[in-house]
Amino acid sequence: MPEAFSLPNLLARCGVSKRFINADLSEFSAYCQKIGKTGESLFAHGPRGTGKTHFLCACLSMAVQKKLKAGELNIESLVTTQKPPVKFLPAPELLVEFKQSYEPNSPMSEAGILKKYSAVELLVLDDFGVERVSHWSIQVLYLLIDRRYRDMKATMISSNLRPSEIAAKFDDRIASRICEMCHQVKFQGQDRRTVKGSTDKQPARRDKQNGKQANLH
Ligand SMILES: Nc1ncnc2c1ncn2[C@@H]1O[C@H](COP(=O)(O)OP(=O)(O)OP(=O)(O)O)[C@@H](O)[C@H]1O
Ligand SMILES: [Mg+2]
Repeated sequence: MPEAFSLPNLLARCGVSKRFINADLSEFSAYCQKIGKTGESLFAHGPRGTGKTHFLCACLSMAVQKKLKAGELNIESLVTTQKPPVKFLPAPELLVEFKQSYEPNSPMSEAGILKKYSAVELLVLDDFGVERVSHWSIQVLYLLIDRRYRDMKATMISSNLRPSEIAAKFDDRIASRICEMCHQVKFQGQDRRTVKGSTDKQPARRDKQNGKQANLH
């Protein structure tokens, strides 16, 4: 099989970064494996570094593999398309894309970007809520989430905020839609990055502190 058709390459085409390319669902609890495998909407929330992005990338990888197997995704078109039907998208990058569209010679319009991400079959919206809150950012995020909610499109979201905090900090209409459409998965525990950083300097303790168990509760 050509290198371009390897799973890591296909996931990269969907926007998954190198760090998370090998994430898989096997180490997650039975409940999370189940909802990850169904490819339905979910909302992963918890403190920084607890593994939310890793989990959503594992879900996305599973979805791509399932769709390829079922013939719902064409491997060749996935390699060539500029609009993959499964997409990993950090929310702050989405906002940058919107801002770029307001520049005079931009080939994209705000409406075009909304249409593009509304049409994606499975969208992973990572790091929801880290952006500076403004009327504008609330409005564009609301427009995207509301469209996907109305069209019942699978949407996986990660956030450091609980739904109640999204309601308070952003918009209760966004939080309400997330609550209805998503299974919630709560992450807890230590920041894996700081554990990893300290154990990398102390290799003898690595296995104990940087264990395989996901921080799920
Ligand atoms: N289950 C896991 N197995 C192995 N490594 C993991 C696992 N979960 C997370 N990691 C690693 O821990 C680090 C932090 O994980 P991740 O980026 O997913 O956290 P996060 O909850 O998304 O953090 P943030 O809220 O800051 O976005 C990364 O290096 C990631 O690769
Ligand atoms: Mg993250």
